[in-house]
Amino acid sequence: SKPIPVDKGIDKTLTVMKEGYEYVSNRTKKFNSDIFETRVLGGKRAMVISGKEAAELFYDNDKIERKGTLPPRVVKTLFGKGAIHTTTGKVHIDRKSLFMSLMTENNLEYLRKLTRNFWYQNTERMQLMGKVNVYKESIILLTKVGFRWAGVTEKPEKIEQHAMDMDKMIDSFGSVGTAYKGYREAKKARARVEDFLEKQIIATRKGKIHPEEGTALHSFSHWRDFQGNYMDSRLAAVDLMNVIRPLVAINRFVAYGVLALHEFPGERERVSADENNYAYKFTQELRRYFPFVPFLPAKAKVDIDFQGHVIPQDTMIVLDIFGTLHREDLWEDPERFYPDRFENWDGSPFDLIPQGGGDYHTNHRCAGEWMTIIIMEETMKYFAREITYDVPAQDFTVDRTKLPGRVKSGMDIENVRLNFDRT
Ligand code: HEM
Repeated sequence: SKPIPVDKGIDKTLTVMKEGYEYVSNRTKKFNSDIFETRVLGGKRAMVISGKEAAELFYDNDKIERKGTLPPRVVKTLFGKGAIHTTTGKVHIDRKSLFMSLMTENNLEYLRKLTRNFWYQNTERMQLMGKVNVYKESIILLTKVGFRWAGVTEKPEKIEQHAMDMDKMIDSFGSVGTAYKGYREAKKARARVEDFLEKQIIATRKGKIHPEEGTALHSFSHWRDFQGNYMDSRLAAVDLMNVIRPLVAINRFVAYGVLALHEFPGERERVSADENNYAYKFTQELRRYFPFVPFLPAKAKVDIDFQGHVIPQDTMIVLDIFGTLHREDLWEDPERFYPDRFENWDGSPFDLIPQGGGDYHTNHRCAGEWMTIIIMEETMKYFAREITYDVPAQDFTVDRTKLPGRVKSGMDIENVRLNFDRT
């Protein structure tokens, strides 16, 4: 078998933290290889793989095991104990069908409507604020959309606390393997939101509240697994949150999107006109271009042949997400922000993988990918078409060496006006 290039060192975790999203592509380029070996998380040997063939391998359930490979701290803060992300085999496929059952045409259309209406109605609040930080404003707005969509009712004055709690959990993935000072805070934040959602599950089961059929709260409360058992109420809360928290995380894409409307000439006008599904293509390009999920972990179930290299059974495998989205062999001129590249995209499940790849039902691919696209389309149309605003001087940097990625300033806008000719 062909030798695998090695990134030498006893533990490269600090290097990963220092180079962030660029760690992998710096090495695949240097070694001119789609695979290299490194050591991370206490010196554990890992094979990093990049590209379309790598994604195909990563989502081959006969060769790859995902269970037990997420760093425990990430499970405790980001996903929650027993979360769908940590399951495998029959349990995974069974529970995934619950998540996917929420993605009906009607439920997605409702999400579109909610997003559009909530932003439009939020205009007055943004006008009163004067200066609006888009990152922060959209955490709160998306929490409202998420609760409402999921059938969860909460007092208006409590929304902001939940929003900030979910933001803390989301940020915690930047702590892969290092001392993370926000860890305890993120765990407390998780406990607070889990408590609240568990109460909603229990109240629904007791018939004290009545979420509509088809909502996530209704479905998670009444679902039975393949053995006929209801979910434990805490677990139901954990996985109900796995629908709402990632929806709130879309705020990161919103800040990137408003930056792109500002920074790239002509985008604002094209998104506003939305000819030939331009808002859709713009959203796809946002998800490709800007840094969010850096990579995903797994391990080899069997000895694996990858492009003539052997990956021994039980070795940790890391799929390069960000690098795959910026590869020259998959994306022409990858560092150009160019939505029209999606005009003729073939829809492959293995190249546009910002939210994982493969199959929704049998792999761990993101259950909320369509939701993300819909929310982003409506949000970007709102910012491009429904309002005008000024963009003050600020730090627009998106530092690709910092995990998690973000617009440094969070994206400030001011002096928001409605675009509606009433003369
Ligand atoms: C899984 C990213 C939004 C629900 C995932 C995965 C990624 C991801 C990378 C793991 C894929 C894998 O392990 O192979 C994102 C990003 C989002 C987003 C970047 C946008 C901000 C959403 C939304 C939902 C959602 C809106 C709401 C339903 C889930 C669930 C899983 C998941 C339930 C676990 C699926 C499984 O284990 O089978 N997401 N996601 N995500 N996502 Fe998302």
